[in-house]
Amino acid sequence: MTDAVRVGLVGLGTIARTHLAVLAEWDEVSLEFTVDPRPEGPPSFRGVRPPHYAALADALEEHRPDLVVLATPTETHAELAGQALVRSAARVLVEKPLVHDLASLAGLRALEESVDLRGRLFTAHHFAFSPEVDWAAELIVGHPEWGPVTGITSAFYDPYVLKGAEAFASYTSSWTDSGVNQLSMLTRFVDLGALGSAQQADDGASAWCTAEYRSRGVVGTARLRSSWLTGSSSKESSLVLGDSGVEIWIDHTAMTGFAARGRDLIATYGNDGRTPRKVAHYRPLYESLLSGRPDPVLGFDATVTITEIHQAMPGLG
Ligand SMILES: NC(=O)c1ccc[n+]([C@@H]2O[C@H](COP(=O)([O-])OP(=O)(O)OC[C@H]3O[C@@H](n4cnc5c(N)ncnc54)[C@H](O)[C@@H]3O)[C@@H](O)[C@H]2O)c1
Repeated sequence: MTDAVRVGLVGLGTIARTHLAVLAEWDEVSLEFTVDPRPEGPPSFRGVRPPHYAALADALEEHRPDLVVLATPTETHAELAGQALVRSAARVLVEKPLVHDLASLAGLRALEESVDLRGRLFTAHHFAFSPEVDWAAELIVGHPEWGPVTGITSAFYDPYVLKGAEAFASYTSSWTDSGVNQLSMLTRFVDLGALGSAQQADDGASAWCTAEYRSRGVVGTARLRSSWLTGSSSKESSLVLGDSGVEIWIDHTAMTGFAARGRDLIATYGNDGRTPRKVAHYRPLYESLLSGRPDPVLGFDATVTITEIHQAMPGLG
């Protein structure tokens, strides 16, 4: 990336801090404005506090950003994305999930006639950029002799039970929040199909489902568990390549992985511990977005595919 990028950041909560930390690594990036209805002032970005607004519409009256980043509660994404697309010429990076229901997806699709959705609207499917995911995906591509991925099990836990209503207000439900991360992560390994056995429990704080997929022409089943009923964050996935007896275990919390066959350890992945987990996701995500050739997993078509599967969970919306 060589051109200057003026960023408008909307929503100054938890994940906005990661966006700001990563954006600050780019000399070409300036923070043009921030938006948040909460009374706290804007953060300093490289020692400068940008103009701050309580509403996106007011900011877009005054500024011509190149990129609008939406880091607001999930249920606000679709409406704010629509505003940013219609009232500016900026690209729009929306936190995942893009929408909280299918009606909102239809609303955004309806803009297609007047707005270049494929060129301008991107979803921050950050889990697809996690380094252990990258490692495992490359390992599988590098070993076609291992055969298809015949089974996947993934469990994502977040300690949000103590946040109570605040967690539901920001993230809607465990499946809404983690399911989209699990699905976007799986697109690195397999071609996703329909959900089965899908159910939520604990008033939306837990979920379970299976998802059909194709791997090297073979149909397999992924089992996905997510829950907020835990004391600490823990996210792991296991991929079995049954024809060859290879199992790949990736720990998304530790950003580590290993592959084993029977009693043998056949590959390992670790890291130097210097990069915080969220930065490790968003740094490559922004590299991709700002490169001019964004990874398809950020794009509108992939988002539609992921959203339609994600929203097939009963009890959403
Ligand atoms: N927290 C994480 O680790 C994480 C990671 C990846 C993605 N996300 C996604 O990011 C989004 C935000 O999550 P969070 O954890 O930062 O939530 P948060 O509740 O900490 O922050 C949301 C912020 O948005 C502000 N806001 C609310 N309505 C607004 C509006 N209309 N205009 C501008 N600002 C508004 C709130 O005042 C708050 O400051 C969610 O969709 C979540 O799924 C969060």
